[in-house]
Amino acid sequence: MAAIESILAAGQAEALAGLTDFLRWPSVSSDPAQTGAVRSCAEWLAARLGEIGMEHAALWETAGHPAVYADWLHAEDAPTVLLYGHYDVQPPEPLDLWESPPFEATVRDGKVYARGSTDDKGQVYMHLVALEALLRSAGRLPVNVKVLIEGEEEIGSPNLEPLIAARREALRADLVVISDTTMFAEGQPALCYGLRGLAYFQVEVEGANTDLHSGAYGGAVANPLQALSVLLAGLKDDRQRIAIPGFYDDVRTVDAAERARLAELPHDDRAYAAALGVDALSGEEGYSTLERTWIRPSLDINGIWGGFSGPGSKTVLPARAGAKLSFRLVPDQDPDRVERLLRADLERRCPAGVKLTITAMHGAWPWITNPDHPYIRAGGQALARAFGREPVYIREGGSIPVVTTFAALLGVPVVMLGVGLQGDRPHAPNEHFALSSFHGGACASATFLQELAAP
Ligand code: BES
Ligand code: MN
Ligand code: MN
Repeated sequence: MAAIESILAAGQAEALAGLTDFLRWPSVSSDPAQTGAVRSCAEWLAARLGEIGMEHAALWETAGHPAVYADWLHAEDAPTVLLYGHYDVQPPEPLDLWESPPFEATVRDGKVYARGSTDDKGQVYMHLVALEALLRSAGRLPVNVKVLIEGEEEIGSPNLEPLIAARREALRADLVVISDTTMFAEGQPALCYGLRGLAYFQVEVEGANTDLHSGAYGGAVANPLQALSVLLAGLKDDRQRIAIPGFYDDVRTVDAAERARLAELPHDDRAYAAALGVDALSGEEGYSTLERTWIRPSLDINGIWGGFSGPGSKTVLPARAGAKLSFRLVPDQDPDRVERLLRADLERRCPAGVKLTITAMHGAWPWITNPDHPYIRAGGQALARAFGREPVYIREGGSIPVVTTFAALLGVPVVMLGVGLQGDRPHAPNEHFALSSFHGGACASATFLQELAAP
């Protein structure tokens, strides 16, 4: 066991150099202008998988960006692990807020700064580091490994389900391992057994057939921006509950034992608020911060537009307005049902004189699993070895659409071996990944594979 740890320790500089190459590609899946860069990144990753000794490394084409596959299947009688992650990243904008260029990985204070460093290239690459160390030192892996790294996670994995369905046999495995979540705190590893789902919408309101002089027409014609504001404001009540009729019908009650376990986690609201620069936290009455983000649904307006927002003033009654909004869902909420409820509520409340259009963008089901599963416990042991501390069992507020697909289509347990940190700023300027997470994560990965072979 100690052997693999010293091999990894000796290879840390090389590991960081490899990650730096991976981070150089602007693999922004949502940006049509980067389609070529996304593909180049996939090709680089497939080549890298081949170099480290994985076999059948290839791009698996989809209707959108390709996925990258590779395997090593020579561990007879040992379990098969399917390792999933994503090589696509969120857009880097706003660029002027980055302290170093987003696609030139820079190390400062023990952290590597770049778009995708924590979400999810760093957490993908640490597994490659582990696989390479095992293959180089022993000439083999302790278990069978299939690697599937997709290029469309950040846009909701629109083409992954058909790919998994079509390649179901090739992807057959005993468990899925995903590193795309966080530890509980620095030095405190965590195993995540629940993720929230997502329902994302664009809402547009149209009024008159042209922008109008707000003096000539104000008071006589519905203002789309005002109508939109009223519609959006009515989505929550003054106790911060989502006010859409029926919205909470499918929300599963979390039992007292689980709530008691969450309450024992060392969370400090004041430090949490201070780190965010806010003087108070805000959320649904009757729930703690961890409960509000992990076991309760939420609603956020992601963006809003319309009318005049340039310098100075312009007296205008705008012809149109719009907003993007997202719901985070918990078991057993269904993103399609949330869409029906939202449509019914907004249409019922929409004032006369404007036209309302609601477009569903993407959805993901919430996910929860039994944290006592032997594979999850084995993941916990690997994290304990790598980080020198027993993991805590947590849920998370973010979404990974494919997790429920794996559970449903392949019928296998999913182990979330995430090592990001809360303050890593995924999706934001100055995203970073702690080198302690990167190297610890590689060690956890190698240890986990060994543990699975010799339980
Ligand atoms: N790695 C995140 C998911 C995540 C975030 C898990 C925070 C745990 C905590 C993933 O890359 C992501 O950003 N997912 C999107 C999904 C969406 C684009 C369909 C999300 O959660 O917004
Ligand atoms: Mn991610
Ligand atoms: Mn993400």
